[in-house]
Amino acid sequence: MSDQQQIHNVESTRVEMTEVVLPQFTNALGNVFGGQIVSWIDICAAVAAQRHCRSVVVTASIDELHFIEPIKQGDVVILKGQVNAAFRTSMEIGVTVDSEDPLTGERRKAVKAYLTYVALDRHGRPHPVPGLVRENADDERRHDEATERRQLRLAQRAERIQKRT
Ligand SMILES: CC(C)(COP(=O)(O)OP(=O)(O)OC[C@H]1O[C@@H](n2cnc3c(N)ncnc32)[C@H](O)[C@@H]1OP(=O)(O)O)[C@@H](O)C(=O)NCCC(=O)NCCS
Repeated sequence: MSDQQQIHNVESTRVEMTEVVLPQFTNALGNVFGGQIVSWIDICAAVAAQRHCRSVVVTASIDELHFIEPIKQGDVVILKGQVNAAFRTSMEIGVTVDSEDPLTGERRKAVKAYLTYVALDRHGRPHPVPGLVRENADDERRHDEATERRQLRLAQRAERIQKRT
């Protein structure tokens, strides 16, 4: 589908990834390394961002992450991501991570993450992204919550910049 034909709604940005916790991803207790989960989250979110803007993107920030439940060797990890809101050159992507016991099928919520990506042009400069079409109450809620989180992130960024000067 060409860029002009692309529908810029939330649905078209959705990503689902499935991973298996192999021994090389775990610590001595058999739990997955947090950094491995972050790496999968980053990939999932980057794909969602690119489905929306169809350009090169970089991770500008990852909000605080909380690991709710340990994920064990042999578990299946399911990551689901979508663009929550598109701003001028940046987008907020939400990713949920669930673990699944492969023998019982029991699923547990493990992590919820919010990431900000910035679209870049071919010179590596921030580049405007298309608006995100919101089609239902869930889309509106995610957009409103993302907008609130953005205000906090930008206030914190301004504070950091001020401290440096
Ligand atoms: C992210 C980056 C492109 C921002 O560049 P910049 O020159 O500061 O550009 P701007 O001030 O115009 O900001 C561009 C957008 O990023 C957003 N942004 C910048 N820093 C941010 C942060 N910490 N959190 C959330 N959004 C941020 C701005 O709000 C703006 O979005 P908007 O256009 O939708 O309002 C730049 O800092 C960068 O390249 N960082 C390194 C990215 C990277 O290498 N990531 C990989 C992991 S290290």
